[in-house]
Amino acid sequence: MNEAKLIWMDGEFIPWNDAKVHVLTHTLHYGNGVFEGTRAYQTEDGLAIFRLQDHTKRLLNSAKIVKIDVPFSQEELEEVQLELLRKNDFKQNVYIRPLIFLGYGKMGLYHIGAPVHVAIAAWEWGAYLGEEGLENGIRVKVSSITRNPVKSTFGKAKAVANYLNSQMAKYEAIEAGYEEALMLDDEGFIAEGSGECFFIVRDGVLITPPNDNSLESITQATVLELARERDIPVERRRITRDEVYIADEAFFTGTAAEVTPIREVDGRIIGNGKRGEITKELQEAYFDVVYGRDKSYKHYLTYI
Ligand SMILES: Cc1ncc(COP(=O)(O)O)c(C=O)c1O
Repeated sequence: MNEAKLIWMDGEFIPWNDAKVHVLTHTLHYGNGVFEGTRAYQTEDGLAIFRLQDHTKRLLNSAKIVKIDVPFSQEELEEVQLELLRKNDFKQNVYIRPLIFLGYGKMGLYHIGAPVHVAIAAWEWGAYLGEEGLENGIRVKVSSITRNPVKSTFGKAKAVANYLNSQMAKYEAIEAGYEEALMLDDEGFIAEGSGECFFIVRDGVLITPPNDNSLESITQATVLELARERDIPVERRRITRDEVYIADEAFFTGTAAEVTPIREVDGRIIGNGKRGEITKELQEAYFDVVYGRDKSYKHYLTYI
């Protein structure tokens, strides 16, 4: 991986290789922790974090849901992320990974009283599903793994434990020769990718499921805003697996995945097997926003 100089941990900037934990770290055993994934882009006015406030708010909301008391305020955590990017002197686009976890000193499932740690790392990271994927689309497999059902897990939290499911789905898809997994909810409707929200286009209408069975995605919300601004009709409703097969276009959205077209699902070619027209328009619009070229979305950028 692309190591950087410094990581921030519990109030201090420390060398990358010193950011370590004890083997009896509570979160390592029982999986209660929360995290974020945020990107910063090299714009013509310098490095800028995309939707810093929204990501930081979601981080704190995630902690609230899983009953972890965070010893830092939203403002403090935002400032730390900016300072981390300044100190690391990045030359490329950056991925920021804040993590709140329970540390060493208490074992057993009752987690109250375990020490709370907050770490924020950042490193240079390119396209998550590949540059080629952004342009030509990726191949996707509907997963045999059901997305964590809301009856038993907290889907509004970006919680560490939720990602065992995603990890198994991703593994299964890659081993089967695909690039990403598409998970169904416990009723069989499309939920989300292993780390992305999902869209289709049918007859000019952009369709994405409600967030009942997906993370409240910041990229999805941005894309919906861009679509409405362009008068592209939008529907938020459930999608069945077979409806995906006959969609004109399909794509994933996520901070890491950005707007990644999907060209094939379960061996069915989607549309013309290339990046669709509406997908392309929204992808370009999204990149114009994150790179600061669309001046009307400057409020989403925090320059370091
Ligand atoms: C499971 C899951 N769904 C959706 C998303 C997309 O969310 P966002 O656009 O806020 O990055 C992510 C990424 O954070 C994710 O991990």
